[in-house]
Amino acid sequence: MSEDEILLNVKNLHAYYPSRKGLIKAVRDVSFTVKSGECLGVLGESGCGKSSMALSLVGLFNRMAKFAAGAAKSPGLLKEFEKEEEERAGTRGQVVFRGHDLLQLDNEDLVKIRGKEISMIPQGLTHALNPQYSVGMQTGEPLEIHDENVRLLGMKKKVLDFLDLVRLADSETRYIMDPGSFSGGEAQRILIAMALISGPYLVIADEPTSALDVTIQRQIMNVLQMIKEDFDVSIILISHDAGVIAELSDRVAVMYAGRMMEIGAAVQMFHHPSHPYTMGLMSSFPTIAMMRMRAGGKRPTLRGIRGEPPDMTELPSGCPFHPRCDYCIDICKTEFPEFREVETDHWVSCHRYEDL
Ligand SMILES: Nc1ncnc2c1ncn2[C@@H]1O[C@H](COP(=O)(O)OP(=O)(O)OP(=O)(O)O)[C@@H](O)[C@H]1O
Ligand SMILES: [Mg+2]
Repeated sequence: MSEDEILLNVKNLHAYYPSRKGLIKAVRDVSFTVKSGECLGVLGESGCGKSSMALSLVGLFNRMAKFAAGAAKSPGLLKEFEKEEEERAGTRGQVVFRGHDLLQLDNEDLVKIRGKEISMIPQGLTHALNPQYSVGMQTGEPLEIHDENVRLLGMKKKVLDFLDLVRLADSETRYIMDPGSFSGGEAQRILIAMALISGPYLVIADEPTSALDVTIQRQIMNVLQMIKEDFDVSIILISHDAGVIAELSDRVAVMYAGRMMEIGAAVQMFHHPSHPYTMGLMSSFPTIAMMRMRAGGKRPTLRGIRGEPPDMTELPSGCPFHPRCDYCIDICKTEFPEFREVETDHWVSCHRYEDL
C-alpha cells in the first residue's frame, strides 16, 4: 500500500479504563490503516473493544476513562482504588490522520477536526440526539460549528438536501420536529446525515444497524451503500454482525479481547480466513452455499466458537484466544504472537499461522 493512499494510520494504540477490579484493557497494541475511499469493516464479539477503539480515534476515549475513574472513586464504593492505576488509564500510541497525530492534539485543535474531517455515528441512538433541539437544527450543527460564514437559509437548504439524501420522508415538515417524534430507523438516518453534512474524509459508523429490526436494518444498509458509492469518503464500519460487515467492507479487521487478530481483503477474510478466531466467526455466519444446501433439504451446521470472551480485567496470558482455540499449543499460552504481514496487505497474529 503506498503511503499517499493512506488516510489514517493507527500505530500501537492502547486504551485503558480504570475500574475497581483493575485496568480494563479495552484496546491493546492495535495497528491498522484506512485508505482513501475504502470501507474497513471492524468485526468482533461484544465487549472486544470496538467502540473503545472508535472513541480513541476521535479523541473522546480519555473523557470516558475520566468518567469511569470518577465512578470507581465514588465515596464508599472503592477502598482499594489506586492512583497509579488511574494514571495508566487513557490512550497511548499514534493515530495519524492526514499528517497529524490526533493523540497529540489539544482539545481546541481536535474540535476543528472532529465533526468536520472525521465524523462518527455513535453506537446507541437514544443518547445521540438531543431531545431539546429540532432535528433540522441538530443536523446543521456541524456546519454551524465549523463554518463561521454559514447563513441560516443556506444551512436549512443544505440540511434538507442531506435529510432527503438519507431518504427521511417529508423532511421539510419534519425539520422543525424534535427527535422524540422519530422512529429508531429515522433517528439513525438523521445521525448519518449529520455525519456527512460537513463533507468529512472519514466516517466511523459504530453498529449503525444493531438496535433496529430487520427491515429497517436493510434500509440503513442501502443508505450506507449509496454513501459508499456516491461520496468520496472512507468508512470504518463497526459491527459484531459478519453479514453487515460482508455487505460493505473492502477490507476486514477482526478484533478479540482488545487485540487485532487478523486484517485482510474482505474476500480473503470471508473465504480463506487464516486466524482460528476469524475461522470461528466466519463458521458462525450462514453463507450462500449453506442457504443453497438448506433449500435442497440438507441441514448444514454452524460451528461457532466454544467458550466465552474473557473478562477484560483478567485477560489470559499469551494469546487471549488460546483458551477457546482448537489449535492451541504451549507457546500460545505464554507469548502473545507478533502481528505480522504474512503476505501483502494481510496481517495475522497467530503462532500457528504457518501450520494451519
Ligand atoms: N465507559 C466505560 N467505562 C468503563 N468501561 C467500559 C466503558 N465502555 C466500555 N467499557 C469496557 O471496555 C471493554 C470494551 O468495551 P467496548 O464497548 O469497547 O466493546 P465493543 O466491542 O464495542 O462491544 P459491543 O459490541 O457490545 O458494542 C468492555 O470490557 C467494557 O465493559
Ligand atoms: Mg460497541
